[in-house]
Amino acid sequence: MHFSLSEEHLMIQKAARDFAQNDCLPGVIERDEKMIFPKEQVLKLAELGFMGMMVDPKYGGSGMDTISYVLAMEEISKIDASVSVCVSVNNSLVCWGLETFGNEAQKEKYLVPIAQGRKDGELYIGAFLLSEPEAGSDATSQRTTAEDKGDYYLLNGTKNWITNGSSASVYLVMAQTDVAKGSHGINAFIVEKNWPGVTVSAKENKMGIRGSDTHTILFNDVKVPKENRIGEDGFGFKFAMKTLAGGRIGIASQALGIASGSYELALKYAKERKAFGKEIMKHQAIQFKLADMATRIEAARMLCLKAAWEKDHHLDYTLSSSMAKVFASETAMWASTEAVQIHGGYGYVKEYHVERLMRDAKITQIYEGTSEVQRIVIGRSILK
Ligand code: CAA
Repeated sequence: MHFSLSEEHLMIQKAARDFAQNDCLPGVIERDEKMIFPKEQVLKLAELGFMGMMVDPKYGGSGMDTISYVLAMEEISKIDASVSVCVSVNNSLVCWGLETFGNEAQKEKYLVPIAQGRKDGELYIGAFLLSEPEAGSDATSQRTTAEDKGDYYLLNGTKNWITNGSSASVYLVMAQTDVAKGSHGINAFIVEKNWPGVTVSAKENKMGIRGSDTHTILFNDVKVPKENRIGEDGFGFKFAMKTLAGGRIGIASQALGIASGSYELALKYAKERKAFGKEIMKHQAIQFKLADMATRIEAARMLCLKAAWEKDHHLDYTLSSSMAKVFASETAMWASTEAVQIHGGYGYVKEYHVERLMRDAKITQIYEGTSEVQRIVIGRSILK
């Protein structure tokens, strides 16, 4: 067992750090305030090969491991979590879901351009449509239906809180094909946004990750060809759960980045700011906060890397990804709040970045399974 990163990992980490500093930091406050989707940044990430990081190069990906993904997610999230959520959804929900469970034709048609993040020079990414107005944590209560019509399914329903809702070209949609079968009557479908009957509603005006485009998507008699179903009939709920287990490593790493970004800003400020005749870093009240932040962040990082390592070694990572997500997201919320506190009044204004990190942190306790859902998954696993 060793804890050092390889040369290749260090290079990927540096590339992500440079990208975050040079391409994400400029304009991050304005994008947050005006809810501007970071299209330029996502296109640059596509160029760097970060939109299909773990996908086999034969399907347009970069063939990197999950450790690299955690490192990149942390660095990007230190600066702009609106960019990193787009990276996370595309990589771990859409690309991984298609690569692992899609057939060859689906991979050729959809995975290749999504992993490259571009098609015909234009942005081409995906979104994952599970949540509904009445099916959030209780994900088996799907109301969206896909009626089998022979050659095609007829899709009707509403999905909400969809990350990449308007920027994605392709949606992976979970829908009920046989209500009587409960979760075994759910299927996953590949749906193109520009098909007749698909409507993207207005962008949500959110507390945090305001640059990320979150939308409700409506389906009204959308004809989905039979060949766009993923896997065997009735595989949709398992597809969603298995895919989300990996997605949770991405969101845990996002939370880790928000926490470590907050810590780095607080540390810098504490070394510069003086009160009562010395730098506030020299006051034990502040030092103890920073010591606790550094310790909890390191623990979160270890959990993220362990889950990633298990995934790379084809072990069951359901438990470790939920542990990483619940711990890292709670660390992000706590550490970013402490960072605001260390900054005092300055922490409460936008120019110092920590208030945005605090707002962004909150969603990591909610999406891809709330902290309560992670505890359900952990509880069930340890009770086995
Ligand atoms: N792998 C494989 N199969 C799994 C599984 C997993 N990780 N988890 C559950 N299943 C299977 C079960 O074994 C069961 O199958 P059988 O009937 O054959 O035994 C079936 O799925 C139903 O599972 P449960 O009985 O455990 O279902 P439940 O109703 O008790 O719910 C839950 C379990 C963990 C709470 C689940 O509903 C859940 O994870 N909810 C949260 C949903 C979520 O994370 N949503 C995020 C939306 S996507 C998003 O946020 C993306 C974004 O935009 C950022």
